[in-house]
Amino acid sequence: MSSDNQNSRGCWNSRLGFILAAAGSAIGLGNIWRFPYKVGENGGAAFLILYLVCVVLLGLPIMLAELSLGKFTRRNPVGAFQAIKPGGNWKIVGFMGVATGVGILSYYAVMAGYSLGYIVKIICCDGRTFESFAANPAYSILLFVIFTILTALVVRGGIKNGIERWAKILMPILLGLLVILIIRSVTLEGAGEGLAFYFRPDFSKVTGKTLLDALGQAFFSLSLGMGAMITYGSYLPEDASIFSSGCSVALFDTLIAILAGLLIFPALFSAGLQPDEGPSLVFKVLPRIFSSIPAGNIVGAAFFILLSIAALTSTISLLEVATAYFVDEKHWLRKKAVWVISGMVLVLGLPSALSQGIVPWLEDLPIIHTSFLGMMDWIFGNLMLEVGALLLAIFVVHVWKTNNVIGIITGGRPGLKMIEKPFRFLMAFFCPLIIIILLIFLIF
Ligand code: PHE
Repeated sequence: MSSDNQNSRGCWNSRLGFILAAAGSAIGLGNIWRFPYKVGENGGAAFLILYLVCVVLLGLPIMLAELSLGKFTRRNPVGAFQAIKPGGNWKIVGFMGVATGVGILSYYAVMAGYSLGYIVKIICCDGRTFESFAANPAYSILLFVIFTILTALVVRGGIKNGIERWAKILMPILLGLLVILIIRSVTLEGAGEGLAFYFRPDFSKVTGKTLLDALGQAFFSLSLGMGAMITYGSYLPEDASIFSSGCSVALFDTLIAILAGLLIFPALFSAGLQPDEGPSLVFKVLPRIFSSIPAGNIVGAAFFILLSIAALTSTISLLEVATAYFVDEKHWLRKKAVWVISGMVLVLGLPSALSQGIVPWLEDLPIIHTSFLGMMDWIFGNLMLEVGALLLAIFVVHVWKTNNVIGIITGGRPGLKMIEKPFRFLMAFFCPLIIIILLIFLIF
């Protein structure tokens, strides 16, 4: 069955191709935009530590489980749950994933659009603030539409020609540029204070919200809880090792997030800005670094080009989940699926695009006092991912059975026997327990 499916559904060309594409999904605005502002809002180093703990103890097991489910069933999330447990209600979890992907994409493409706009803004030495930039409806909406169309065009191209080819070239360039910029950031005057904020923990600042944010950020950043890794795993070649691929992706993603913090905080403190600036943090801090280096506008433009591309490799995976569902289950043509879903994304994302200084009530919603974009991020980028990961863990342990998953993760390699016990413990007890406690805390 699988070789037939591989032929008709496409498959990654190589292991490296897969790792780069999956890392491309994981690495994106989540690392460079969302991670630093969450660290800033949650008091610095303590958040960083909690985040790392969440990545290792919760993120990694869920990642391995999602990849295994995809590789074993060779299906989109809905089809994957159905293939293991036909006729039951579990496919609803798959549907939730598809919907969550569309929900995240709707506001993610708005932020990605700003990153695209900043390329031109920096080249033109346009010194306007982020607020006045985002408050221009022509920019906000147009950039959002352009970014969504770009995503649609790549996903239309399919697996090998679209997603894999680009990821292979662009991810390494992003890493190189990050390192160069960090060297500048940490040598700015007053950078030491930023390093202290980032690396010296103050646990008195940790609350339930800090934990919830750290866990949500770990899932968001690793693209977990909504089926992206199930879908990407479904294109893995038969002989690929889930364990080493999953670990490489998690490692690469975490490395980029840590580096992004190292870039932002020294420059932020050196400029005398506040770390709890919120979602606009990177857009305010980065231009200051660029203005302090020679040929800063060229370097700055290069950075925002790479950031936009990193965002693109993530939006591709968000769109691919829903596309794979319509192609596999409803037998739609890829082209039709891509355009119909993109249309939905445009409608759903419009209020987010208008919520950054254009329509005042969308900027500060009644009762919850956050912007529409902030609300979407909280519902889809935090809550739904945590619920999705919880249901996946329950499914793996009680329906699919942990033994089956372990068999796929280790591929029968004796050297990997030692992961069996920790995986069992984390999947059956630790992950569900922690997520349930945090969700209860969230509701009350
Ligand atoms: N992980 C991506 C990022 O960090 C965002 C994403 C979330 C992509 C969920 C796919 C699924 O930017």
